[in-house]
Amino acid sequence: MSSADRIRILTVLISAFNINCVPRSDTSGDQSVKFQQYFVAGETLYQKHCANCHQVNGTGLGKVYPPLDKSDFMERNFEEVVCLLKFGKKGQIWVNGSMYNQEMKGIPELTDLEVASITTYIYNKWSHKRGLVEVTETTAILNACAARR
Ligand code: HEC
Repeated sequence: MSSADRIRILTVLISAFNINCVPRSDTSGDQSVKFQQYFVAGETLYQKHCANCHQVNGTGLGKVYPPLDKSDFMERNFEEVVCLLKFGKKGQIWVNGSMYNQEMKGIPELTDLEVASITTYIYNKWSHKRGLVEVTETTAILNACAARR
């Protein structure tokens, strides 16, 4: 094998490796270990607790379950979203111009860290690119909404 061939093979290998290292396009591009940990934990929790209704790909289901992907409600109501994961929500709600009105039961046993993981996941997996949601942030928000209840 000529040295030119060797260099060519090496170049192919290096570029193949680089392709694998490109940030996952379904995240905010945050490559920190902490973000990855929250995101991966959030994905598991989402599939267990949320995907039945909001679907694995976040599209929601018809007029019954609102979408998370591209949700303008999520864009505008970050703190309320953090709270509804744990405490639930009922009454009329508008998402992308459509009205939904069915109770979502909260999951009271979620820890603050689990809420931060789910929030990191749903705010980065699809259209939203919010980046890491720290557990300190969800603790403060959850305490405030618990106090209002
Ligand atoms: C049993 C079905 C069901 C499950 C399970 C469920 N939701 Fe919901 N979710 C709903 C319904 C119904 C609404 C609308 C509530 C209303 O009408 O007030 C909603 C509203 C929302 C909203 C605000 C509206 C929007 O689309 O932006 C978010 C965000 C959300 N859910 C996220 C989640 C997450 C994350 C989980 C898992 C922890 C989850 N939901 C579990 C049914 C569900």
